[in-house]
Amino acid sequence: MTNDKKKIIIGNWKMNLNMQDASLYLQRLSELIKIRRDVEVILAPTTLTLQSLSLQVNLRQFKLASQNFYWRDHGSYTGEVSATQLRGIVQYGLVGHSERRHIFCESDKDICNKVAAAIRNHIRPVLCIGETAWERSNGETYDILQDQLIGGLANITSDELSQVVIAYEPVWAVGTGQNALPTYVSAAAKAIRGQIEHLYGSAAAKSIQVLYGGSVTIDSAADYLSLPELDGLLIGGASLNAHSFSEIIKKAHKGSSTGEKD
Ligand code: 13P
Repeated sequence: MTNDKKKIIIGNWKMNLNMQDASLYLQRLSELIKIRRDVEVILAPTTLTLQSLSLQVNLRQFKLASQNFYWRDHGSYTGEVSATQLRGIVQYGLVGHSERRHIFCESDKDICNKVAAAIRNHIRPVLCIGETAWERSNGETYDILQDQLIGGLANITSDELSQVVIAYEPVWAVGTGQNALPTYVSAAAKAIRGQIEHLYGSAAAKSIQVLYGGSVTIDSAADYLSLPELDGLLIGGASLNAHSFSEIIKKAHKGSSTGEKD
């Protein structure tokens, strides 16, 4: 269904790696990875290191993403960085990551404002959605996905939707070592596309890029990448090591339609 689309592999470094480590990592990863037309590799370092990495990065090889930003463009918001300030530095921005929702209490309203701010500033938002363990055990997974999609995309037109990437990250799988089974992820990705179809029509449902994140490792990556409903991965822990991240990227390439090998 989605094999002709580029795979997306995002490394979310969270609050790890200082400026020097980040620069060394980028150098090492660029030695390990060839430029691929069929895989978009995106690094999401801390805000602190974004600007210096933006000067170092070869954009044909990697893109950059912010892990967070504030939705207003400028003003008296102590400690915040806006999408307007990130414009030209990043090409993507994570929005509504479960750690933002659950540790920093971001609401669907905040998230919907951030999706709109990213698009207004020519940054592709990666809208993260997913249920908690409690919601899962109560059979609420699909309701949560629906609510978070409707909430996050509330101000987004059909034209703007083409800029949006959706990342399905069940909260119980993030950083726990307990990854969701591929069959479970496949069903969730279908439900996400079904909801997008309901909101924006069948063409949008087919073309939107849907990623999975949650305790993905070198060993589990290929199983997800072979799912026709899925367009890539959002990786935390396994992206902190340039070697393991490069191995996952290579699997995305090998699993793609061109069949080119290393
Ligand atoms: P882990 O891969 O460490 O579970 O993190 C997933 C994640 O939160 C990526 O955004």
